[in-house]
Amino acid sequence: MKEINIGILGLGTVGIGIVQLLKKRQAKIKNIYGVHFNLKTIAVRDVNKKRNVELPANTKLCDDDSKVIDDPDIQIVIEVTGNVDGAYHAIQRAMQSGKSVITANKEMLASHINDLNTIAKNNQVNFFYEASVAGGIPILRVLSESILTDSFEQVNGIINGTSNYILSEMLTNQADYHQVLEAAQQLGYAEANPRNDVKGYDAAYKLSILSYLIFGQFLPVSKIRLQGIDQISIEDLKAAQNDGYKIKLIANLKRKHKQLTASVVPTAIKKDEQLANVDGVQNAIQVTSDALGRTTYTGAGAGSLPTANSVLSDLIASANTETNGYSMALQNDNNNDYQIIKNGGKSQYLIIIHLRDNQINSVAKLESIQKIKFDNISTMMTNEISYPELQLLLKKIKNHVHPGTIVHAFPIFKS
Ligand SMILES: NC(=O)c1ccc[n+]([C@@H]2O[C@H](COP(=O)([O-])OP(=O)(O)OC[C@H]3O[C@@H](n4cnc5c(N)ncnc54)[C@H](OP(=O)(O)O)[C@@H]3O)[C@@H](O)[C@H]2O)c1
Repeated sequence: MKEINIGILGLGTVGIGIVQLLKKRQAKIKNIYGVHFNLKTIAVRDVNKKRNVELPANTKLCDDDSKVIDDPDIQIVIEVTGNVDGAYHAIQRAMQSGKSVITANKEMLASHINDLNTIAKNNQVNFFYEASVAGGIPILRVLSESILTDSFEQVNGIINGTSNYILSEMLTNQADYHQVLEAAQQLGYAEANPRNDVKGYDAAYKLSILSYLIFGQFLPVSKIRLQGIDQISIEDLKAAQNDGYKIKLIANLKRKHKQLTASVVPTAIKKDEQLANVDGVQNAIQVTSDALGRTTYTGAGAGSLPTANSVLSDLIASANTETNGYSMALQNDNNNDYQIIKNGGKSQYLIIIHLRDNQINSVAKLESIQKIKFDNISTMMTNEISYPELQLLLKKIKNHVHPGTIVHAFPIFKS
């Protein structure tokens, strides 16, 4: 039987899940794969913190990362700290000293994935990050192995559970954004500082990882059209519902020949579409590829055990990979020459205008405006237009209404 020493950086939500699941599955792993993972050392910030987990008898807890990174007996390092720069340097050092690395750190990967893949290859170590996109859904392995040979055209995802939960709860409880955010924070579905989730950054990090994996193209977050959910009101959701749509924060990555466009924006989806019915903290990723067509993967996008399960699958893959230097992003040697067009492509838009008193006649003069729906809300559906054309139209609408009138535009989902 193969004995592999592992070390973990971080023992928070995900780290604790890894320890618990590894204990529970150790016998099964031994039986099927003939491997025993010996959890040698875990590094944290504060060793005195009370933690809801019992460590294996021979596992050491310390507050010094180098006891994991520089220990020559440790073969695989799992990074689950959530730091960006610190984690990048720790991973780099671990790889350079011949250790394979597993991480769940999407924010760090969104900046350093290219570099770390190269370092892994140069040092002949494995580098896996299944848990970094959609937590428990095994989407990266599907994309990088099961359907690797297909030609990818488009990915659409609901890949931020917090914002999906907030939008679902707003509609279910007819509540406003701030009310629901506060409740989500109390339930632990939203962080005390929710910026990364509600402003779309978390989804953008994951889209950047998907771009690297699918197209071999490094996609900086700055090239993604980004809009969060923090300006959406219950009136927007009701107006969309009235027209047969749900509003979801959709991450979209689309290829046309050698051009890529990427966006994370609140999007209007017809109620009968599969993604419209992914509610609460659930995640979903819909992939369109040439041979297979459209496939959708749904499940738990976060959480201690679902995320730990993805990390364990990386552990097994790392222990089993014959050729070291294996990274999930196999394609980056050949491509990385796409042109990324920010705000590219055309879309239809659902425009929702929150009118104030006495503006009905003036707005009604605009072409294609629809009748006032309710509560002084008016909606309009555009033809397929480009992003600059949308900006011109919004300007024109704003010229017909009182200054400060809220006008929101949601692209219509196209699978
Ligand atoms: N939570 C999820 O459901 C989920 C899902 C997918 C991906 N992820 C990713 O997984 C990572 C971890 O998330 P989490 O929710 O487990 O975070 P968390 O609960 O905040 O835990 C972070 C852990 O890292 C430790 N830590 C911080 N700096 C450290 C350092 N320099 N050296 C060693 N340990 C350090 C902390 O130590 P102390 O405990 O002593 O403070 C803590 O134990 C993040 O990158 C996150 O984006 C999380």
